[in-house]
Amino acid sequence: MPNIIQSPSHDTMEQAAQIIRDGGIVAIPTETVYGLAADATNGEAVARIYAAKGRPSFNPLISHVNDMEMAEELANFSPAALELVEKFWPGPLTLVLPKTKYCPVSALATAGLDTIALRAPRHIVARGLIAAARCPLAAPSANPSEALSPTTAQHVADMLSGNVDLILDGGPCKTGVESTVVSVVGERPALLRPGALPRAEIEAITGPLDAPSEKIASPGMMRRHYAPNAKLRLDAISPEKGEAYLGFGPSKHKVAANLSTSGDLLEAAANLFAMLRILDLQYDRIAIAPIPHEGLGEAINDRLKRAAV
Ligand code: TXA
Ligand code: MG
Repeated sequence: MPNIIQSPSHDTMEQAAQIIRDGGIVAIPTETVYGLAADATNGEAVARIYAAKGRPSFNPLISHVNDMEMAEELANFSPAALELVEKFWPGPLTLVLPKTKYCPVSALATAGLDTIALRAPRHIVARGLIAAARCPLAAPSANPSEALSPTTAQHVADMLSGNVDLILDGGPCKTGVESTVVSVVGERPALLRPGALPRAEIEAITGPLDAPSEKIASPGMMRRHYAPNAKLRLDAISPEKGEAYLGFGPSKHKVAANLSTSGDLLEAAANLFAMLRILDLQYDRIAIAPIPHEGLGEAINDRLKRAAV
């Protein structure tokens, strides 16, 4: 069993940073989901992440940074990209950018592309580890490929305990769905993955976001993902016989769980993966109430659609 360390102190952050510098893997909390972090510039360490997740190596990883000093070594920022950084970093926005010529990140982490995904997380533990390790951290969500994403340290321990050297426990994730991924490589910014930062907030700055073109589509946007074993039925107004009902908002039906009784999308996003995980242990069929498509609802519905395939 790997160590789970609570509320990391200065000493434990140093210990975690040493593991990273030695090419190991540390599970870290971010404000979105837990990540499996390794030194992005160390090819062997990055290979270990792919192996731990059973992730196909054509699906590139996000490199996590703390500041523009580190970011500008890795990628070229257009004025439009800088505007987004200014407004949303640190936070749940991942930018896909052209790599610099001398970018030290392992080609495995970028799946051999000439672009790189960068994110500056807001969570104090993630920031602390990047600062202590003094390198960009490649970190995908800390779940086996295709499984539900982890929003607590215990989820990580349950799924990947044999494959991580240390788990830093920073409490349950605030947002609960992954970062929004925006490509700023082409003429116009494109939304590659809806996520924790609602589209409307980005579009207030960029104008309408493009849909991903074939060429720049996120290689990781597989149709089936986040998948529980149970069969999911979406947009269910009411449960059918034999189905557990996952509600949203006030419900006149008997619910097995409710993403948010008050109909709050933030609360629903934070509960999404943890509730699916618990219901999946108990039921074979889960019906899920309709979730409005606005704000965080776009990311929630995206995850549900992939989970239901
Ligand atoms: O909230 C998050 O983003 C979490 C936390 C740990 O930071 N991380 C996360 O990583 O969700 P992951 O690996 O599960 O998802 C990264 C997404 C994938 O869909 C991947 O295909 C896409 O980003 N991506 C990474 N590099 C890319 C690139 N160069 N071009 C296009 N898409 C890229
Ligand atoms: Mg993931």
